[in-house]
Amino acid sequence: MISGNAGTVVVLQDLEAVSREAAECFIRNSRESIASRGRFAAALSGGSTPRKLYTLLGSDEYRDRVEWKKTHLFWADERIVPPDHPDSNYRLAYETFIASAPLPPGNIHRIRGEADAETAAREYEQDIRGFFGEEGLPAFDLIMLGIGADGHTASLFPGSDALDERERIAVPVFLGRNERDRVTLTLPVLNNARSALILAAGAEKADVLRDILGGRAAVTYPAGQVRPARGNIRWLIDSAAASKLRSG
Ligand code: 6PG
Repeated sequence: MISGNAGTVVVLQDLEAVSREAAECFIRNSRESIASRGRFAAALSGGSTPRKLYTLLGSDEYRDRVEWKKTHLFWADERIVPPDHPDSNYRLAYETFIASAPLPPGNIHRIRGEADAETAAREYEQDIRGFFGEEGLPAFDLIMLGIGADGHTASLFPGSDALDERERIAVPVFLGRNERDRVTLTLPVLNNARSALILAAGAEKADVLRDILGGRAAVTYPAGQVRPARGNIRWLIDSAAASKLRSG
């Protein structure tokens, strides 16, 4: 384990180990949040990396270790697709664990990808404000993130206007180039979280992790700008993704 400016970095053997550690962090965080605030509000991500983690959370081994009735699920980002679409981040979580967890429907705060991106972002902001209260920025107990080889996180991509947003909670993202529109939480919200967990696996992430965690060019990448003010950020990365980090 390495602790520094970028937070705590935990290197684990492979995706299986990353996923198990992430499940333990999720469970620990849920217990602490429920003990201190009576509920646990977590924002999830999509991508391929968290599939194993979500499957674990829905498994007999882990499912009963979470107090689902006091757990509220949100999303860090979503693609503008219907909820049953293969690219839907909601669908990924639904199929892997929500379907088998006793979560009251009112605890699932998905981004309505069946609307257009601006409408979905506005509605999502209202839902979040209704949950956390009207004033100020929401403070999620845990935001789970991934990172792309280009350094994007959630749907905050390098060079995007969304990175400059300071007022809104969620914004639409229009990528063009035949890419789907998206909705993402903004940086001020990510940085107001009580804690953040970033998962990364695979050699294609090694360069960007070297730059961000080595401090060389961290802030030039969206993921390097995630620095929750309350300080608690933990990177769980596999040995292939960590292969260009200097140890010690
Ligand atoms: C998404 C994301 C995105 C993802 C990264 C990493 O919905 O795609 O939230 O930010 O976490 O692109 O994706 P992989 O896990 O597939 O590498």
